[in-house]
Amino acid sequence: MSLALNNGKAFVNGKLSMLNILIEGKKISGISKKRFGTEKEIDCNGKIILPGAIDAHVHFRCPGFEHKEDWFSGSLAALHGGITTVMDMPNTKPATDSRPALEEKRAIAKDAMVNKDFFVAATNENLQEIAFIPDLRGVKVYYGSTTGNILFNDSAKLAELFRLSKKNGFVVVVHAEDEETISRNAKKFAGIEDASVHEKIRSEEAEARAIAKLIELHKKNGGKLHIAHVSSRKGIQLIARAKKTKSGKNLTCEATPNHLFLDSSAYKKLGNLVKCNPSIKGAVHRKALWKAFVKGTIDIVATDHAPHTQEEKAKKYSEAPSGIPGVETMFPLLLDAVSRKKIPLKRVVKAVSEKPAQIFNWKTKGLIKKGFDADLVIIDMKKAFTVKNEELFTKAKYSPFNGQRLKCFIAQTIVGGQPYG
Ligand code: NCD
Ligand code: ZN
Repeated sequence: MSLALNNGKAFVNGKLSMLNILIEGKKISGISKKRFGTEKEIDCNGKIILPGAIDAHVHFRCPGFEHKEDWFSGSLAALHGGITTVMDMPNTKPATDSRPALEEKRAIAKDAMVNKDFFVAATNENLQEIAFIPDLRGVKVYYGSTTGNILFNDSAKLAELFRLSKKNGFVVVVHAEDEETISRNAKKFAGIEDASVHEKIRSEEAEARAIAKLIELHKKNGGKLHIAHVSSRKGIQLIARAKKTKSGKNLTCEATPNHLFLDSSAYKKLGNLVKCNPSIKGAVHRKALWKAFVKGTIDIVATDHAPHTQEEKAKKYSEAPSGIPGVETMFPLLLDAVSRKKIPLKRVVKAVSEKPAQIFNWKTKGLIKKGFDADLVIIDMKKAFTVKNEELFTKAKYSPFNGQRLKCFIAQTIVGGQPYG
């Protein structure tokens, strides 16, 4: 079947232009100033067309935690947020730390409405096995503990993993927080049940120590290092400095909308709903992250979509799980920032589509280009909408951005030539 997107402004070669797009099957087969006459047409008049977002950090929770999310609810939520590809994290039950577990996960997700791939978790026992998993885009390292408790922070083992990354080409994606620092702080602040203590326990120091160590190991051993969800000023400073060195060309990092759009003032109003790892920190950190995002030091923005039920979040601080859902709000928040002239559109497209495709080796995604996959989002930048908990598609049904009015509207999402919405 062929489908034409006519009369819109498409983001091609780094800018928006009046261009029509022809889709045949799953691919973009033509881009032209002339209108395409086909059996099916979407009139994009007044709207813009961007490459779909590639979210390199989601927790769709299968198998084991289907009550929090599954591939139906998760991909429906992603589609509503303009996300066409997701990369799912391994902290499920069982954890994705072996080939059979990976195959099981692939089978569970096979009918998802979005494109997907999966990270495998590194453990002290599985590096030999990882070496023989074909086409692996990324290995996840939990250098500090978080939901799932799959810790991997032995220096010799990390060195081995970086060498394997150098040999096989996969990216080592790290949750970078220092376990010792977290435990020490947890003891120091034990008994405090105000959610704002999270920032004191999972401190800037905890992140900076981990990042410094990882940069050092990466430099010595090679391979590709990607620091997930950077949350602090010191953390991003260390990365900026390391990027200027020789090994820096294989060092990338990500920020989440949680750390870009929230700061510690949110604990008072939202309590455990904004408890996530690494913690949301003070405004100085948020500002430092924005600067780095605008500059390009932050390579990608990913959601770290980490849903938990409202009952789980209603427990007291010390018992409530960490994590915030985000696939429905990431692209809208970023486009709203474009509307408010906080960041150029080009930078946003780079961070959510182009760069994640490059880093994680999605060879035919991330750009609107002839021959590339027809993963696209049609957006009305003149229309606004309000984020409402009850209208969300994630099973978690809450967002820290509930009630916020955003200037942009995702009209339609197209995955592999198939339009939704
Ligand atoms: C994530 C989860 O719940 O799976 N939680 C979080 O606070 N980010 C785990 C993670 O990515 O650290
Ligand atoms: Zn994490």
